[in-house]
Amino acid sequence: MSALLATGGAPLLLLGKDGQVGWELQRALPLLGPVVAVGRAECDLADPDAVRALVRRTAPRAIVNAAAYTAVDQAESDRAGAWRINAELPALLAGEAAALDAWLVHYSTDYVFDGSGEAPWRESDEPAPLGAYGRSKLDGEQAAQTAPRHLVFRTSWVFGAHGGNFLKTMLRLGRERDGLNVVADQWGAPTGAALIADATAHALKAVLPDRDATGGLFHLASDGVTNWHGYARHIMAEAARLGAPMRCTPDAVRPIPASAYPLPAPRPANSRLDTARLRSVFGLSLPSWESQATRVLETLLAPQ
Ligand SMILES: NC(=O)c1ccc[n+]([C@@H]2O[C@H](COP(=O)([O-])OP(=O)(O)OC[C@H]3O[C@@H](n4cnc5c(N)ncnc54)[C@H](OP(=O)(O)O)[C@@H]3O)[C@@H](O)[C@H]2O)c1
Repeated sequence: MSALLATGGAPLLLLGKDGQVGWELQRALPLLGPVVAVGRAECDLADPDAVRALVRRTAPRAIVNAAAYTAVDQAESDRAGAWRINAELPALLAGEAAALDAWLVHYSTDYVFDGSGEAPWRESDEPAPLGAYGRSKLDGEQAAQTAPRHLVFRTSWVFGAHGGNFLKTMLRLGRERDGLNVVADQWGAPTGAALIADATAHALKAVLPDRDATGGLFHLASDGVTNWHGYARHIMAEAARLGAPMRCTPDAVRPIPASAYPLPAPRPANSRLDTARLRSVFGLSLPSWESQATRVLETLLAPQ
């Protein structure tokens, strides 16, 4: 009986199970009860009828949407594609969650801000996205917040052992090249997909049994701040310490301004997120970005 009470009857529905965060959620969520985890092979999330059918068939007590169109530069030339997944999908999910009286968990990004100033952004600060990806994510997070019970987590600079990210690119390039030019005038916190998944499970566990809880919007990022150059230096140093055959030393990572590395989508210069709300509401302590990066490097460099 207590086991039934602890896990509840209805499952959690996880969308985007094969992404960086989705992969870690496949590990973290089962602690809360049964999980129906769905990837592209099971459902094309750009197909509203298929999504509706999936949600209604599953009748979950929470929908956890880790799927997104995350190709930031490609979004500039494929705005419709980005909009379908980042804006229209969360709107559909909010409606389905409301009809089922289920929770909606959704993720958003530092790219909803224009990157001005140096202060960490609070949840109450005015968003002003610089590009198509950020605009689509802003619309999506606002749509997700129309679900009567929602958790929306804005995060930044996501990395993990599973999937593509800056850490893995630097690890590869650092083995191939004697030196690297890396942007030093954009600031933020690299955030481990595992931390995002664990914090999600913790928050969801707190709200699920609470009939009065409504959730809200939370900034979820690692402790500390760096720029891409400092992050790359850490990767080179730690990879060498862990025995990887690195050609690029930390000092051979040269700082450059973002203006020297133009990309289709502009990036915010200040991606710092103030996580005070998340920490106080859920009693969470957020580990440093360095400790998480080192842990992922240890996983990637472990003997097979
Ligand atoms: N990555 C970052 O640095 C970052 C920073 C801030 C916020 N975020 C946010 O954090 C969340 C998780 O990001 P992430 O890095 O884990 O993303 P990710 O690794 O790119 O994973 C996204 C997943 O969504 C799936 N997906 C996209 N379109 C789909 C479709 N039409 N049908 C089915 N599945 C589809 C992708 O499948 P395919 O691989 O098959 O396309 C992928 O598995 C997102 O909301 C993202 O916006 C990410």
